[in-house]
Amino acid sequence: MSKNILVTGGAGYIGSHTVLQLLLGGYKAVVVDNLDNSSAVAIKRVKELAGEYARNLVFHRMDLRDRPALEEIFDSNKFDAVIHFAGLKAVGESVQKPLMYYNNNLIGTITLLEVMAARGCKNLVFSSSATVYGWPKVVPCTEESPINAANPYGRTKLFIEEICRDVHRSDSEWKIILLRYFNPVGAHPSGHIGEDPRGIPNNLMPFIQQVAVGRQHALTVYGSDYSTKDGTGVRDYIHIIDLADGHVAALKKLADPSIGCEVYNLGTGRGTSVLEMVAAFEKASGKKIPLVMAGRRPGDAEVVYAATEKAERELNWKAKYTIEEMCRDQWNWASKNPYGYEGCAHQNNNNSAPH
Ligand code: NAD
Ligand code: UD1
Repeated sequence: MSKNILVTGGAGYIGSHTVLQLLLGGYKAVVVDNLDNSSAVAIKRVKELAGEYARNLVFHRMDLRDRPALEEIFDSNKFDAVIHFAGLKAVGESVQKPLMYYNNNLIGTITLLEVMAARGCKNLVFSSSATVYGWPKVVPCTEESPINAANPYGRTKLFIEEICRDVHRSDSEWKIILLRYFNPVGAHPSGHIGEDPRGIPNNLMPFIQQVAVGRQHALTVYGSDYSTKDGTGVRDYIHIIDLADGHVAALKKLADPSIGCEVYNLGTGRGTSVLEMVAAFEKASGKKIPLVMAGRRPGDAEVVYAATEKAERELNWKAKYTIEEMCRDQWNWASKNPYGYEGCAHQNNNNSAPH
């Protein structure tokens, strides 16, 4: 019997790619997403890419904080596990609107955990972030490195991690995997699904992509005076398909009787600078990316990359894709969908995707 997984936020960037990998891996997926930062077209495309497995995907447009609606979904399904992506994620916006972030991310998670407990589903994979390492004093960041948060978004991740640890301490039936993602980039190699941020992108790759398709004039490079190889910030970029596969590996790990509440980094272990990323993207796309050198962005760390041994050893998972492949797939998505899913806005007017 196929395992049945509830995926919150499954229409979003990471969620849509993960749902596809789940379906292709023989899982059933029920997606709940309020589409606040995503499009029903993503679900439609996932179904197209999943072929015969599309029948194993059900989508509900719903806010996670709507407890009666969530209870109804649990009443009409038996879930083996939940992958919880749903949340707001823009750092700058979280500083402007902290209560909106605490309400959405914390109340959403608490509602989910309460309904899961009441319905006897105690297996969870949660989207945490490398943001909890702040400005690391030592790299690579291991799962034991000190954690802290510099903004309300980061604090929601930190608080939810702590809530999960407490929930597990209170009831050892819970099995929880906290995945700390490094910097997910790229798109499905088909170019049919990818990242489609609303408004002006905050993150590096979506911004570069918009410069390449002519939606932005130039990339502002935030800081060229860091103590790094070329003075620009260094991050651990990970292909979205590797990241999605990391979730399938985490689900398998939940079947291990020894698992309690565990943290795993999902990264490649390699650091790449802003200028290296720009050069790789220019090569993949054949487009020149004009640069404007600027000061450091407040809150930015200098160098962040992952220690990957724990995930390799215990999840039996390792990132495979190179920076060149990340840029190739990012450009494939961008050139096919220069305005993201908006290009098919007429399909987006439906409240929910076809089942
Ligand atoms: P995303 O915005 O594309 O996806 C999140 C999805 O959750 C969206 O589809 C949104 O509509 C939905 N959502 C938000 N609040 C909801 C609610 N209350 N009820 C129902 N649906 C809701 O973001 P993403 O990049 O796919 O990130 C997924 C998760 O991973 C988030 O929790 C994010 O914080 C975390 N994360 C992302 C990154 C990154 O760089 N993308 C890095 C680390 C962690
Ligand atoms: C940012 C968030 C982090 C979040 C992560 C993934 C901040 C301070 N941190 O991390 O909390 O978990 O995204 O969503 O916002 N850069 C430019 N020009 C740009 C954009 C970025 O030079 O227009 C540089 C940054 O200075 C950094 C690198 O590119 O050195 C990567 O930036 P970004 O993609 O925003 O990711 P993070 O800073 O790692």
